This record gives sequence, structure tokens and C-alpha cells, in this order.
Amino acid sequence: MLRKVTQILAITAVSSMLAIGTAVAAPITIKFAHVVAENTPKGQAANKFRDLVAERMGDKVVVEVFPNSQLFGDDTVLEAMALGDVQLAAPSLSKFDRYTKSLQVFDLPFLFSDMAAAERFQQSDIGNELLMSMESKGLIGLGYIHNGLKQISAHKPLRVPEDARGLKFRIQASNVLAAQFEALGAMPLKKPFSEVFTLLQTKAIDGQENTWSNIYSQKFFEVQPYITESNHGLIDYLVVTSAEFWNGLPDDIRAEVKKALDEGIAFGNEVAAQKALDDKQKIIDSGRSEIIYLTPEERALWVEAMKPVWQKFEEEIGKELIDAAYASNE
Ligand code: LMR
Repeated sequence: MLRKVTQILAITAVSSMLAIGTAVAAPITIKFAHVVAENTPKGQAANKFRDLVAERMGDKVVVEVFPNSQLFGDDTVLEAMALGDVQLAAPSLSKFDRYTKSLQVFDLPFLFSDMAAAERFQQSDIGNELLMSMESKGLIGLGYIHNGLKQISAHKPLRVPEDARGLKFRIQASNVLAAQFEALGAMPLKKPFSEVFTLLQTKAIDGQENTWSNIYSQKFFEVQPYITESNHGLIDYLVVTSAEFWNGLPDDIRAEVKKALDEGIAFGNEVAAQKALDDKQKIIDSGRSEIIYLTPEERALWVEAMKPVWQKFEEEIGKELIDAAYASNE
């Protein structure tokens, strides 16, 4: 009898150990939602991160990437993150103004003369501090991904700011970008990225601003006969997670995930510059859209027309922050 009881106890102990073992071994799932194609700098960064995690810690963590607004658009992804329905996202820096005014600095027109300046600012102490600018709202920035500088496309050639007067432009959800188009006498419309192609195709809007890789991968060039190479603003991304999720990860797992993410981001950033050049060339080769190159005099007119936006947002963003970002140009 005693032997039987001991046997039963031993079996129970082993099965509960197994049960505990199983529970501990269940992998943590990280859903990473974004809105662009896989063959873009952000798409490639996300996929690289997923692959590195699978390679190094696939038994502990699984990353699922949802590109092309498949899971959430940028207009809903942060609410979904607060609910725990998604763990990582990388909206453009233009899409956080409901959460912080500081990141609006990145939207100021003609702020960065090239991507090297944007990179210097992001990697500076202030750039690092900005990663935590939404901590009180439960969001933590984990790094910046580059896309590139924006160009303006339209159904008519835009050489001087006057050409944009009265036209409707789709913009990202950003008050700075709204002010930028208002400064041109144009009509900005905040619309989700996933709707832009149809809006252009049906001529519900006249134009939009975006990077070469987005104009190419979303086929905007097929429905916009003119693209002005203005390089007037930036589309880069903040990789963001919820503080609750991130701080709840075991320390060793968080550190390894962060390392893989940093490497994924570095990979995306390495391909970004070449991608912009390649995608611009593919658009030229397609013959579907004419690229308008501005003379220095024409460009100066765009700067002059858009620059008052800086003054308008100086108080919200903070002069020191604007000065620091601008100083990264030298
Ligand atoms: C846009 O909405 O135009 C961009 O922010 C999309 C993206 O993620 O590059």
C-alpha cells in the first residue's frame, strides 16, 4: 500500500515538473506590425530582426511580422499596443504628435540637408532622450529606422510653390505637415498610408509627399505623372513598444531581443540609402512619371515658402530642440 502511495506521489511530482517545464518553455510571441512593403528599409529591418531571433532564441521567442498594414494601420497600432494586441511597431516619426510634441521636430521642412545629418541627430544624446519622450504614455522607443528624404508627387508639374496652390495633398497624421501644405496655399488631408494609391488613382487627391522607396513600392508613380525631387523633409521611423510588455520581459530575454533588434535596424539602415537610389532609378526607367529637378533658385523658393512653419511650432517643440537638430547639419 505504502509503495503504491509513494509511486503515485512520484508520478504526480514528475508530471507537475513536466507541466512547469512546458509552461516555462512556451515561446513569447512578439507581433511586429508595420504598413510598408517587405522590400523597403523598414520591411527589411523587421524581417532581419525576426530571422535573427529565430536563429538565436527560437525556442524562447517568436517574432511574427505583419507588413502592408495587414494587422494594423499606423492610425490604430498604438491603441492596439496599449491593449496588448501587438508588441512592436515602427510608425514614421510624423505619427506621434498625439503622444508627444517633441518628435514633431523631425517634420520641420528643410531641417536636415541629408540623411547623415538625421543620423547624427538621432544618435546624439538628445536623439537618445527622445526615445523615451512617450514613457509617461506607456510607450518606449527602441531605436530609429531610416527611410529617406521626401519628394512631392502630383498630377501636374510642381516647379515653384505657387504650382501647389489649391491642390489637395495626402499627408501623414501630423499637424506640422498640415501647416507645411497650408503654407503653400494647398489643402492637406490626413489619410492612412494604405489608402493613398486609391485616392491618387481616383483623383480624390492631387498629390502626396513620400520617399522614393514608398513611391516605388506602393506604385504611386504609376498614378502620378510628375515627381518633384524636393528632398524637403524626412521619413524615418521610431521602433516602439509598450512599457508594460517590454519591462515585463525577463532581463536576459529583453537584452537578447534588443540586440537582435539593433542588428535588424542596422541592416535596414544600411540598405536605405541604396534603396532610395535604386527605386528612384526604377521609377525613371518605367517612363511612367517624369522627375522634376529643381534649380537652386527654385529650391530656395520652396524653402522660403515652407520655412514659416518652424516659427509656428517653435513653442510646442522647443527652440533648443530645433536648434540641436539643425546643428547636426554641420
Ligand atoms: C506614410 O504614411 O506615408 C509613411 O509613414 C508610411 C511609412 O511607414 O513609410
